[in-house]
Amino acid sequence: MRTVISILGIILSPIALALDNGLALTPAMGWLHWERFLCNVDCDTDPNNCISERLYMQMADVMVRDGWREAGYEYICIDDCWPSHQRDAQGRLQADPKRFPGGIKKLADYVHSKGLKLGIYGDVGVNTCAGYPGSQGYYETDAQTFADWGVDLLKFDGCFMNWTSLSEGYVKMSKALNSTGKSIYYSCEWPLYEWIFNQPNYTAIRETCNHWRNFADIYDSWSAVKSILDWTASHQDTIVPAAGPGGWNDPDMIIIGNFGLSHDQQESQMALWAIMAAPLLMSNDLRDICPHSKELLQNRHIIAISQDPLGKQGYCTAKVDSFEVWERPLSKHRIAIAVLNKQEIGGPRKLLISAAPGWKICDPQCNVTRILPQYTELGIQTLQSKLFVTVNPSGTALLTVSPIRGFTNNMHWHDHSVKDKHTVL
Ligand SMILES: *[C@@H]1O[C@H](CO)[C@@H](O)[C@H](O)[C@H]1NC(C)=O
Ligand SMILES: *[C@@H]1O[C@H](CO)[C@@H](O)[C@H](O)[C@H]1NC(C)=O
Ligand SMILES: *[C@@H]1O[C@H](CO)[C@@H](O)[C@H](O)[C@H]1NC(C)=O
Repeated sequence: MRTVISILGIILSPIALALDNGLALTPAMGWLHWERFLCNVDCDTDPNNCISERLYMQMADVMVRDGWREAGYEYICIDDCWPSHQRDAQGRLQADPKRFPGGIKKLADYVHSKGLKLGIYGDVGVNTCAGYPGSQGYYETDAQTFADWGVDLLKFDGCFMNWTSLSEGYVKMSKALNSTGKSIYYSCEWPLYEWIFNQPNYTAIRETCNHWRNFADIYDSWSAVKSILDWTASHQDTIVPAAGPGGWNDPDMIIIGNFGLSHDQQESQMALWAIMAAPLLMSNDLRDICPHSKELLQNRHIIAISQDPLGKQGYCTAKVDSFEVWERPLSKHRIAIAVLNKQEIGGPRKLLISAAPGWKICDPQCNVTRILPQYTELGIQTLQSKLFVTVNPSGTALLTVSPIRGFTNNMHWHDHSVKDKHTVL
């Protein structure tokens, strides 16, 4: 591997304070309707796929029946297009009466009866992105309404809002949620809407939100996944230090199980979202998903990386020969290494994995497990090991590396890496 330049930062400043609502100690896992079901309100001709209470109830049933809840997926989240266009006589939001005849409280009770949690959607501005009522001027009322309904998560969008008021609006809603006395997971889009004009203040965002979108909406395509990874790599020194227990960067929904990604590309999304300590919010149709996608989404080894209790987001640590190496510090001084093959022509290609910057923890020895493409124990390795990974075009190899304690200073790199490592590519 040529041109690996890794400069270890010595910034040891403790991570900024997170929103203190007791939630998001690890990134959220669940399901969110948007990418797959959009604003489909046509229940007359498309009753199975329209935004209605039936969709969430069916998804809740399937999440229990098919092992999703056991795998850790717990939130079922409503996105835009659920409300009526009018607030009620008391100024409260109300669900569309035709599509949600039971109302949100009843839906939340149903979801809770399955051992799951319900998420809902609102907007910091005067309207939601699809033109339903926004919360500007109603933050306290709407927070109380959501709490009264028993809602567990709020995704708060940023359409129809002057960017100069974004921070004020997001902070006000965070306080309004806190004032209800019910812990509600708060998902923000504040930096996404602010980046267009200004570099957002991630200290303030972390104090306010449990996770936050930075970049454009995901689409059902490999090019969308790649542009999210590129944006993340090129802004990592700004955004990665903001992530930790209580608050996470959100690269948007998991689209595995839909139409746009190949087998290898699905593995890449799952591996890289785990490395990025991203929320795992699937937007797919769990009622009809292929076995391979299901197995990948429920892969307990990848989920363990995603949910690692150390709570450090990974970095892109090297770009070489059309490979990208991404590494995430894990608990017990371990690291996860992902190798993405970005050459979209030809066949599988090999990379000498011991050239990855994090391989330094293999001094004197380490124990290596490959998780993708197939789970394999690769055994004891050393600094000098000539271990190669073979990666398909647009696929990813994913490994965990555990140092074997002994003599020497083999914790050196890791001690830096877990304290906001900065790497220049
Ligand atoms: C509200 O904020 C306070 C202070 O940060 C915190 O101690 C409390 O747990 C929060 N309550 C809820 C319901 O989020
Ligand atoms: C946004 O807010 C700024 C500062 O309050 C104001 O000068 C500007 O006119 C506003 N823009 C719009 C489009 O409302
Ligand atoms: C960013 O937000 C933090 C916390 O709210 C605040 O203390 C700090 O002054 C802000 N930084 C800037 C540059 O505005």
